[in-house]
Amino acid sequence: MRNSTRSGVDPFIVMDVMEAARRAEEAGRTIIHMEVGQPGTGAPQGATDALAKAMKEGPLGYTVALGLPALRQRIARMYGEWYNVDLNPERVVVTPGSSGGFLLAFTALFDSGDRVGIGAPGYPSYRQILKALGLVPVDLPTAPENRLQPVPSDFSGLDLQGLMVASPANPTGTMLVHTAMQALIGAAHEQGASFISDEIYHGLEYEAKAVTALEVTDDCYVINSFSKYFSMTGWRVGWMVVPEDQVRVVERIAQNMFICAPHASQVAALAAMECEDELQANLDVYRANRTLMLKGLPKAGFTNIAPPDGAFYVYADVSDLTHDSRSFAAEILEKAGVAVTPGLDFDPVRGHTTLRFSYARSTADIEEGLLRLQRFMAERSVSVG
Ligand SMILES: Cc1ncc(COP(=O)(O)O)c(C=O)c1O
Repeated sequence: MRNSTRSGVDPFIVMDVMEAARRAEEAGRTIIHMEVGQPGTGAPQGATDALAKAMKEGPLGYTVALGLPALRQRIARMYGEWYNVDLNPERVVVTPGSSGGFLLAFTALFDSGDRVGIGAPGYPSYRQILKALGLVPVDLPTAPENRLQPVPSDFSGLDLQGLMVASPANPTGTMLVHTAMQALIGAAHEQGASFISDEIYHGLEYEAKAVTALEVTDDCYVINSFSKYFSMTGWRVGWMVVPEDQVRVVERIAQNMFICAPHASQVAALAAMECEDELQANLDVYRANRTLMLKGLPKAGFTNIAPPDGAFYVYADVSDLTHDSRSFAAEILEKAGVAVTPGLDFDPVRGHTTLRFSYARSTADIEEGLLRLQRFMAERSVSVG
């Protein structure tokens, strides 16, 4: 049977690494997982308790397409609490994860063939979802001196219809300060490009609070999720904030594409928003892990790293060690028993010489992983000479 041209998207290489790690574990080895981009913890207790209660009380059928009104209101309130932004709950759309948000946003904003700028390195699925929708992802190679985040000169004259940024970003964990966000939004609007801000790692920041695009403008789409800070990856629930005049457009697409985000997950998500103590305890673990990583990775020989302001990743330039990050990651898995992600997922051009280390797991795992990496690299430098 014939396939569409737009279905020819690339695989997610980290999945291949996860599979290789699984095979090693099946063969009896203990593997430290620094490849996965998800919390080791589950949904907060309050979330699962609320769901258990709701399951006894009713059928949990479809909700309205825009999501449970109580959840939309609570999300809007969070913008006041976190950023001092007064947000009309009518502008909040509950989505099946931020991945569902991308589908809705890209479909609502762009026509086939439209060009959307994305930072490289960046989250791989932006590129693949854009391609699958018949849109044109335009990679914007970012510079280390700009914290591997795009700046206006990276896309001037590129005739973009959209610009997508993430702060804190995956794979780097770097953030955009207020002025940088403002400059990007201004330059995008000057070019007539719609601005989309992926804020999925908000809440996971270690030095300064992340800036939401809504602090700068209402004329943007903000995409967020319960997957990371709220530790609910598999529940597939997230949200978007869109301008008032876009709500009905998005609602019509959401009705047809998804009907609604999973009802059970919406109930749990609402309760998760009251579980601050547990979520902050998770954050304390990431903070401790980050400190260990920032000390331990350079000690192992990974010295060229982007400043990880948030999320739970460290992105390392390993061009002094390899020009083939995929086989280097395979060697690290084989010899050190540590699974890491080659940068190719995030940057098809420069990713041959980069690796992403995730520190989302337990502190004991991170300590063990760093020891293994240090031993492996010491032995490697002896054998390489
Ligand atoms: C930057 C970024 N955006 C979006 C996603 C997708 O998240 P979800 O669909 O679980 O909300 C991820 C997942 O790792 C991510 O790293």
